[in-house]
Amino acid sequence: MKIIYPGSFDPFTKAHEALCRRVLAFADELVILFAENQEKNSYYSLKERMAFAYTALKDCDKIKIDSCPGLLADYFRESQADAVLRGLRNTNDLQYEQSMAEANRLLCPNLETVLLLSWPEHSWMSSSLARELASFGAPLEAILPKAVIEAHSKELYRHCKDRGEKE
Ligand code: PNS
Repeated sequence: MKIIYPGSFDPFTKAHEALCRRVLAFADELVILFAENQEKNSYYSLKERMAFAYTALKDCDKIKIDSCPGLLADYFRESQADAVLRGLRNTNDLQYEQSMAEANRLLCPNLETVLLLSWPEHSWMSSSLARELASFGAPLEAILPKAVIEAHSKELYRHCKDRGEKE
């Protein structure tokens, strides 16, 4: 089974990492797809975001990291995947995920969206919170994978307001 996990991943959090590892227990191939969200301007560059995901999961086989400037439904069709994965943290996420799943199904009738519940310890996490912490130079250990912080501290704090004083 080939599964596509699309998102902005700006940045890739512990919650994203955990979801990927859980899915890898039963998927043959997992594509982490950096897709464009028209509502968002990225805080980290695409290259940085892809590097963070690669670092977080570099010990895993069966993972491909890719990007797509167009529609997810087109990418899904062309890659002959079996399902799209999205994480669900709480009921607030449900409405958004439901409309996205329905729109994708209209564009590609065999596109099945699988929603996986985040573990409770990850349900408070969001990339936006990670960005907020990073912008103030706050510790990121609770929210980002350890390997990502160790390898990419400079990039993570690139936009930090106090960066000048920290260097
Ligand atoms: O992590 P996000 O920002 O919630 O992910 C949203 C994302 C990137 C998966 C969604 O915006 C998307 O699929 N973008 C690709 C363009 C597309 O297909 N848009 C229609 C989705 S219904």
